[in-house]
Amino acid sequence: MEINLKEVSVVFSYTKDQRFKALNEISFSFKQGETVALMGPTGSGKSTLLRVIAGLLKPTSGQLNVRGDLKSVVLSIQEPHRGFFAATVREEVEFGPENLGLSHSEVKARAKWALTAVELPVEKWEVSPFLLSGGEQRRVALASVLAMKPQVLLLDEPTIGLDGPGKQTLINLLIKFKQEIGISLLISSHDPDFLFSLTRRVILLDKGKLQMDSTWGGLVKKHRELETMGLELPLLLRVLLRLKEKGAPVSPEQDQELKAREELRKLMKKEPKGDGNF
Ligand SMILES: Nc1ncnc2c1ncn2[C@@H]1O[C@H](COP(=O)(O)OP(=O)(O)OP(=O)(O)O)[C@@H](O)[C@H]1O
Ligand SMILES: [Mg+2]
Repeated sequence: MEINLKEVSVVFSYTKDQRFKALNEISFSFKQGETVALMGPTGSGKSTLLRVIAGLLKPTSGQLNVRGDLKSVVLSIQEPHRGFFAATVREEVEFGPENLGLSHSEVKARAKWALTAVELPVEKWEVSPFLLSGGEQRRVALASVLAMKPQVLLLDEPTIGLDGPGKQTLINLLIKFKQEIGISLLISSHDPDFLFSLTRRVILLDKGKLQMDSTWGGLVKKHRELETMGLELPLLLRVLLRLKEKGAPVSPEQDQELKAREELRKLMKKEPKGDGNF
């Protein structure tokens, strides 16, 4: 499964002569098995881009090419409660697999598997999804898309409504799904630490334009540009950058969270030199 975007633009028309270019000639491709972060300030076009890739919004110009089955590209929307319609959580999760034309027993099995995988307590399966907490609704939304066993999963702000442990559970779940079902992920978020735990590649949007398609290490090199957009690097990279500015022998251009942690650990093992006042 490969997704290619070539000069994709989306123009919204408010009135006859008032238009707004939400996406401006976006080009990039996205390969099977990749995990990519999508960052950008509010209103930069992240959700619009995900809707285009999911096939829910037609570009005004440019091309979207999906090599593979478009049905296997699934979007979990930014505000999951807006998408709920079923009477119970279980029915909500069954809807996707049902729509794929799977057998009754397979639909039931998928819903059970997905709700168990997102660790939603069984006593919540037969209640209305609207009665759940924000974090629980997130889990139901995630179960609904996972139950379809997509090849490409597009997640729009998946950490909204999650607390610290909830975020960690989501990270672990996504890592597991990547390993188990080889899912490709494109994740939009305002939480750089969450994104850094899962990805090496970052796509940065600003005012509808693709400003950077880089690794986290590449983003470190352009951290001043990032700041002018009001965006931040992950905390670990900010710490490494600050340490380097103060003369510590570290390289902050790390593409992976694990490597960044190692870099910090290496420094801790070193004998303190000078005044040690980083
Ligand atoms: N259906 C629509 N009709 C008109 N304008 C729209 C529509 N959808 C989005 N827009 C406009 O397009 C711009 C980009 O919106 P989008 O939701 O893609 O931003 P975003 O990067 O996801 O922002 P956020 O971080 O706040 O979620 C916004 O200015 C928004 O008002
Ligand atoms: Mg959005």
